[in-house]
Amino acid sequence: MTIKTKEEIRLMERVCQLAAQTLYHTAKFIRPGVTTDELNKIADDFTLSHGARSAPLGYHGFPKSICASINDVVCHGVPGPQPLKEGDIVNLDITCLKDGFHGDTSATFFVGQVSDQAKFVTEVAKQAMEKGIEAITPNGTTGDIGFAIEKFVTRKGFHVVREIGGHGIGRDFHEDPFVPSFGKKGKGDRLMPWATITVEPMVNESAAPIIEMPIANSSVKWYVTSDRSLSAQFEHTVLITDTGYQILTQY
Ligand code: MF3
Ligand code: CO
Ligand code: CO
Repeated sequence: MTIKTKEEIRLMERVCQLAAQTLYHTAKFIRPGVTTDELNKIADDFTLSHGARSAPLGYHGFPKSICASINDVVCHGVPGPQPLKEGDIVNLDITCLKDGFHGDTSATFFVGQVSDQAKFVTEVAKQAMEKGIEAITPNGTTGDIGFAIEKFVTRKGFHVVREIGGHGIGRDFHEDPFVPSFGKKGKGDRLMPWATITVEPMVNESAAPIIEMPIANSSVKWYVTSDRSLSAQFEHTVLITDTGYQILTQY
């Protein structure tokens, strides 16, 4: 966990604001018929035009500028030529790199009208992220975050993904600590004021295992639910302060 200086926090604030703007700019183009390749280009062009880079492109060989995870894809979906369909849910995960710092944020969006169940799992994922963030206290632990997320999600009848979670972030895309979406209060790594982390729970409709899938020429994996049930996710980059937290990727 790296403690940021005032100047580094200012740069984190800037890149995180850009990531949030890129996410919601790109999301305006979501509709039945648009391809995730088209969304990838919209996001990359917007990022480049603001003097930043898309961090996923080339990251451990990842071939695209954003992740786009549709329906049963849990995370790290690779954009492609398939059009989105009415009723899909799609998570767009945007990470910008500017002036040496990373800002990482994602949200799940509806394609046209979606089922009540799709709305519900998406809403639970959003609130799970919020519950996790609200559990951040200076000198608390990553377990406090995971506990809050898991408790909320379980009460709603859904299931958190354990294999993948949040992370420290700054000069590197992924830094220590791992920020789990499960855990026990007071366990895990200590949260230090002026460190920056992501909170990014993945919420699955069912308890079925997830399956790891390869990406050609990359060590990054993408993940899908083994029973094709829905998975939704939201992500913010958050600064831990001396009195609590500040969401850096708020839109
Ligand atoms: N943005 C993802 C995260 O939240 C990581 C994507 S890695 C990539 O941590 F290589 F797939 F882009
Ligand atoms: Co992240
Ligand atoms: Co992300």
